[in-house]
Amino acid sequence: MGNFIPERLLEEIRFRNDIVEVVGAYITLRRAGTTYKACCPFHKEKTPSFNVNPNLQIFKCFGCGEGGDVISFLMKHQGMDFITAAKTLAERAGISLELEEDSGATKHRKLVFEINHAISQFYRRCLLQAPAAKAARHYLSERKLDGDIADTFQIGYAPDGWDVALQWGAKYKYTPDQLEAAGLVLRSTREGAQGRFYDRFRDRLMFPILDSQGRVIGFSGRILIKDDKSPKYVNSPETAVFHKGRVLYGMDKARRHIVNAPNREAVICEGQIDVVRCHQAGIETAVAAQGTAFTEEHVRALQNYADSVVLAFDSDSAGKAASVKTAVVFMDAGIVVRIAELPEGEDPDSFVQANGGKAFRDLLAAAQSAVAFQIKSLSGGEKDAKGVAATSRISKAVLETISHSENAVQTARLLQETATLLNLPISALESELAKVIETQKRAAERQAKRPRKAAAKAAVPASPVEAEVPFYEDEGGEIPPDVLAASPFMVEGEPGGAAPAARADRIPPEEQSLCELIIHVADYPELAAVIAEYLPLEMVSNLKCRQLITCALDAASHNSDLLEELLAEGESSAHVLEYAEALLSAPVKVSGREYSPKEAVQDLILGFWRNRLNRERKAILAKGSERSPEDAERRTQITYDLKSLRQWRTGREVIAIERATLEG
Ligand code: UTP
Ligand code: MN
Repeated sequence: MGNFIPERLLEEIRFRNDIVEVVGAYITLRRAGTTYKACCPFHKEKTPSFNVNPNLQIFKCFGCGEGGDVISFLMKHQGMDFITAAKTLAERAGISLELEEDSGATKHRKLVFEINHAISQFYRRCLLQAPAAKAARHYLSERKLDGDIADTFQIGYAPDGWDVALQWGAKYKYTPDQLEAAGLVLRSTREGAQGRFYDRFRDRLMFPILDSQGRVIGFSGRILIKDDKSPKYVNSPETAVFHKGRVLYGMDKARRHIVNAPNREAVICEGQIDVVRCHQAGIETAVAAQGTAFTEEHVRALQNYADSVVLAFDSDSAGKAASVKTAVVFMDAGIVVRIAELPEGEDPDSFVQANGGKAFRDLLAAAQSAVAFQIKSLSGGEKDAKGVAATSRISKAVLETISHSENAVQTARLLQETATLLNLPISALESELAKVIETQKRAAERQAKRPRKAAAKAAVPASPVEAEVPFYEDEGGEIPPDVLAASPFMVEGEPGGAAPAARADRIPPEEQSLCELIIHVADYPELAAVIAEYLPLEMVSNLKCRQLITCALDAASHNSDLLEELLAEGESSAHVLEYAEALLSAPVKVSGREYSPKEAVQDLILGFWRNRLNRERKAILAKGSERSPEDAERRTQITYDLKSLRQWRTGREVIAIERATLEG
């Protein structure tokens, strides 16, 4: 049913899923008067400040500010997107989301899911019970892949034979054509047997591949005995539901661990057995692309849950080359990537088997940057790694990698690291990098004679949290005093909630910082989307800054050059142009922490909103005894909002709500 659920159905979903029951299924709630309390699952604490209110059907943590309804609880706690959370709850309550008659394509996909699921259970039963699966059971127990972990991953066995799946299908009334559509059988092209169906998976250990919602979309079948004639793994072909270039093995299980991991870091392996082994050893953030090259689509699937990744590929020459290639795909997407170095010839599975989970965790913790990894592995292949020729070859390859860094701070760090490791002056590397980028640019320009797609990616939709999430009363105020302290961006002496009047003279530091970032909009079009969605330009007080930002957003949406856009505006924008040029020629600022321009912009936007709410709060306080009950309520709300506005994750929701009130 697509990606849209009508409000009426959402109401039904919320109504029929009691928040106390749903939350209570994940954490232990304790009754406290009319509400329920628990230690917050979203931050570490000893005294419970997490509240669930059955009357209002909402949850709220006074400690970290997380809050929302039953759907957003599932999103946050299980790392689900909105649609998945809503669908899960609909299913739980037995609400059918199929409004219209299913289209043919939907029906077909459903059938393929159904067949895959059913046969995965059949293969599982075969593994556990069939006498013919004795060797398979022996194999699994030899490799220590039996027991609970085999159950978790639903590992099965496809018996030896040309028509096992066909006979299974006949029993359950699935036609050979339908089995073929699910990728389970093939048509023979052999002379004499043309068109006859036969099983794809024969005498193989079966690993069901699930999508992130946990549906069986395909299989990977491992051979039991080494054999030069047949491949080690046989996989499902592309079907209506299986696209190898998109799916990550283990994602259904890993995603909720990834969202809760430090730095939201995922572990990326090559093979499914590596993933199974990692999960078995308690490293449950592991996923794998199953032997195919990492695609942008893989990255996108991961991006919903992960902010950073550590690659743990096989330590052979293919694995090392794949590590660097994959790192580049992640860097292109602005995801922080590290590469773990396994001992020669090992993969995560063999390493964990030999050394245990703790040792592997240490190895992951010690993972290095892509550049350090690349230098080390290239040096290993050189006879005289310190010689001029080798250094030049290595630095060239490394600069190629660095040129994919999305973020100036990261680039600076990687260059610094390269300079140290290769014992070269950083200035030389910088000018070489500029050349590499220039060459790439020209190549891209030659390529891109055809019309380009719009640069500004569609704005991120705001988290679908209700506009009127009510807040609890100021219960004894468990709010740390620093929330109430002046924000670092605090503009003094402008009481009243209204935005300060636009001024031409003084540039507040936060506006200057924002301009320093947005000036690079051509390189970071995502900045335009964030600003457009979360920062009403009236909140920018300095006229010059406001004009510059407006122009930058225009440039991003027309995919044109910011300076040219300003030039076109003529005399009236001359001072803005001058400002822009000054910003562009200023040296790139390096801050201490790993920080993408997008995160920097998000932080600044949070500051703008904290300013605004602080002003409003002051104005309310200034009313003294004339404060109305509404004023008091608003003040309480601002107190919580200010707290949420300390982090983007929670702050963006507050902004969406405040902005809607502001504008509507
Ligand atoms: P590997 O050859 O590294 O296998 O392939 P592995 O995962 O370590 O498995 P074991 O430990 O030898 O049993 C990595 C991944 O590449 C895909 C599979 O998804 C495998 O997990 N692959 C490999 C294939 O699709 N076909 C093949 O013939 C081999
Ligand atoms: Mn292996």
